Amino acid sequence: MKTLLKRITAVLAVVAILFNFSVFVSAKKDITTAEAIRFNSDGKLRIMHVTDTHLSEENIYDSTWLIGEACDREKPDVVMLTGDIAMANTVEETFRKIDLLMKVFDERKIPVAVCFGNHDSESGIISREDLMAYFNRHESSISIDDGDALTGCGTYNVPVLGSEDDEVKFNLWVFDSGDYDNEGHYANVSENQVEWYVQKSKLLEQENGEKINSLVFQHIIVPEVYDGLKQVKYKGGYTFSHIYDKSKHYQFDQNAVNYGFLHEYPCPGYYNHGQFEAMVERGDVLAMFTGHDHSNAFGVRYKGIDIVNSLSTRYNGDVASTKYGYRMIIVDENDTDTYTTKVVHWYDFFKNADMKVLRDSDDGHIKLAREIRFKGFFEKAGLNIGVFFVQMFTGRTVRYPD
Ligand SMILES: [Fe+2]
Repeated sequence: MKTLLKRITAVLAVVAILFNFSVFVSAKKDITTAEAIRFNSDGKLRIMHVTDTHLSEENIYDSTWLIGEACDREKPDVVMLTGDIAMANTVEETFRKIDLLMKVFDERKIPVAVCFGNHDSESGIISREDLMAYFNRHESSISIDDGDALTGCGTYNVPVLGSEDDEVKFNLWVFDSGDYDNEGHYANVSENQVEWYVQKSKLLEQENGEKINSLVFQHIIVPEVYDGLKQVKYKGGYTFSHIYDKSKHYQFDQNAVNYGFLHEYPCPGYYNHGQFEAMVERGDVLAMFTGHDHSNAFGVRYKGIDIVNSLSTRYNGDVASTKYGYRMIIVDENDTDTYTTKVVHWYDFFKNADMKVLRDSDDGHIKLAREIRFKGFFEKAGLNIGVFFVQMFTGRTVRYPD
C-alpha cells in the first residue's frame, strides 16, 4: 500500500511539475508579461553585473564556481547577464554550457535578465531567438523575447517594485545591442529599439505619475563614450586611440567624473542611432552598464548619464584573467536618484578568512583559490607599477575609485 501511495504521489508530482513548467514557459513568450522584481526587505536592490563569460571547455568549471561563490557572498537580488555567454561548436554544447551557468542561479533562486553580445549567435549554429527560448527554460530567467517588432532579440524592461508595496519604484532596461553592421563594424541599438524605449519610458511616467529612474544594461557601449573622454594630441600611458579613427587619442578627462580604470580602447558601434541622446532627453537613466571590452572597468559621466563598462566575468587559468571579475550595483528604494557601485576583481576575491573556509570545507576548491591568489599577485603588482609610473611621469590620475 505504501509503495502504491508513493507511486501515485510521484506521478502527481511529475504532472504538477510539468503543468507548472509549461505555464511558466508559455508566459515567457508574451512581451506584456514582464516579470517584475522588488526591492529587498532592507530597501536595497543588489544588482550583480555578469558579462562576457565566454564559457569554454577550459574555463567553464572554474568560472561557474567563482560566479556561484560571488553570489553567495554578495547575495544579489538580480543578476544582469549581458552577452558573449557560451562559446561552442554545436547547439548541444551551447545548451550544456548555458545549463551549467544557469544552474548557479537556479539553485540560489536569483532572477537573471539576459541579453546577447556580438559573439552569441555569430557562429550561425543558433539564432538569438532560440538562445533566448533556451535561457527561458530555466526557472531563474526573467528575460523576454521581444518578438519581431524590434531589431534583434532581448530588448525589454524589468520594473522594480517597492519592498512593501506593488508600486513601480525603479526600472532596469535591457537592450540587444546587436553584433555587426553590414560593413563589419560593431552594431548598435537600432532606431526602432530607441523608439520603443521612448514610448515605454513615457508610458511608465504616465502610469506612475512621475519619471521612473532607471539603469540600462546591454553588451556594446554607446559611441558617446568618446565624448565623455578627453581628446588629446599624443598617445601615451593609458591614452588610447579611437577604435575607428586611429589619429584621435583619448584619456580620462581630469575635470570630469571618472570611475575605475581605462585599460583598452572602448569598442562602440560605428553608426549611432540615437539611443544615448534619447535617454538624455527623457532624463530617466542614471547609468548605462556594458561589457564587450573585457579589461575595462571604468565609467565616465557625460550629459548627466554614467557610461560604465564592466569586466569579463570569467577565469581562464592565466595571470591576465585574474584581473577579471564582476560588478555590484546597489540602489536604495528611498533614494533612487543615485546608486553605488563596486568592482570585484578575482585577484582580490580570496582573503585569508575565505581561504580558511575553503580549506576546512575540503571540497577541492582551495587549490583554485590559491592559484588565483598567486597568479593574481603578479597581475595586480604589474598593474599597480604601471599606474604608479604613468601617474608619476604625466601627473595625470589614471585610476579612480570604482
Ligand atoms: Fe566578449
